[in-house]
Amino acid sequence: MSDIILGIESSCDDTSAAVIKDGWLLSNVIASQDVHKAYGGVVPELASRAHELNIVPVVSEALSRAGVKASDLTAIAFTRGPGLLGSLLVGTSFAKSLGLALDIPLMMVNHLQGHLLADFIRQEGVEVREPAFPYLCLLVSGGNSQIVRVDSPLEYTILGQTIDDAVGEAFDKCSKMMGLGYPGGPIIDRLAKQGDPLRFKFAKPHIPGLDYSFSGVKTSLLYFVRDQLALDPDFMEKNKEDICASFQKTLIDILMDKLIKAAKQTGIKDVTIGGGVSANSGLRQRLELEGRKRGWRTFLPEFKFTTDNAAMIAIAGYYHYLAGERTALDVAPVSRMSDF
Ligand code: KG4
Repeated sequence: MSDIILGIESSCDDTSAAVIKDGWLLSNVIASQDVHKAYGGVVPELASRAHELNIVPVVSEALSRAGVKASDLTAIAFTRGPGLLGSLLVGTSFAKSLGLALDIPLMMVNHLQGHLLADFIRQEGVEVREPAFPYLCLLVSGGNSQIVRVDSPLEYTILGQTIDDAVGEAFDKCSKMMGLGYPGGPIIDRLAKQGDPLRFKFAKPHIPGLDYSFSGVKTSLLYFVRDQLALDPDFMEKNKEDICASFQKTLIDILMDKLIKAAKQTGIKDVTIGGGVSANSGLRQRLELEGRKRGWRTFLPEFKFTTDNAAMIAIAGYYHYLAGERTALDVAPVSRMSDF
């Protein structure tokens, strides 16, 4: 008999539901929340309210696109954390209620685990190409910057992580400082394509081991912008492409230096990336370039699986299901989750 898993993701500002059947994706529906754009960042209370409005239509649409009825479901996987508590509450409560009504098991999933396993989402008409265990994943988003060794679908070791800001935050804050808008990553990515990445230099951190730091490079940009604007009030407008290209190159250099070090230390040659920042075109190109140079097999998630989506939660939940794990109905969401 087939296992049909409904995945639910509501950790931040995207409400998403997906259906997978024996590991194959049948549907993946995402409702994004434009309401936050006016505020230059996600407003938690507005996010929870939008999730409340979206969750029923999004789940219905996911079931309908998959061609399955609620009564066909084998189990429900949901994001327990990390994320915004109010947002997580909506998805968790919905998953629990539906699980109870249908009398089917629940599997809680760590959102980050979903990003780590995104390469295992199988799709009709798309070549199956999956990393072999153990592999390295550079997990980069608005809340995380980590190098993770993935030993099996349910076993992970964090080899290094940021000691301050996440790299996505650095992209977003750079964009804010330059008055370019939110979220900053895609805007900087677009402008960087037209700029000279070698024109300006920004400070790089000297952190031992495999950990990251992004607060210094952010401050370096802040002082640079302040000093240049004092000399020429139009500096930013005249040079924004080169600033974005140079800043983005600095962030990619920092990320790749430690990833290369991790690959050398572990001898692992299968390397993946995940999380919102893995959509960055410069980072994707650089990973492929380094991969070719170093004999790595590199795996880049499709763009639709880089940002928050329930397909990755469903696939992670499927592995928990196969391992016989079940989540009790008294589970509560958590804003921080230290382990996977
Ligand atoms: O994983 P995600 O959707 O949400 C969490 O943080 O959990 O990641 C969002 C982050 C934001 O900081 C956004 O600016 C960044 O991913 N991002 C990008 C790109 N697209 C999204 N950063 C760089 N380049 C991009 N193309």
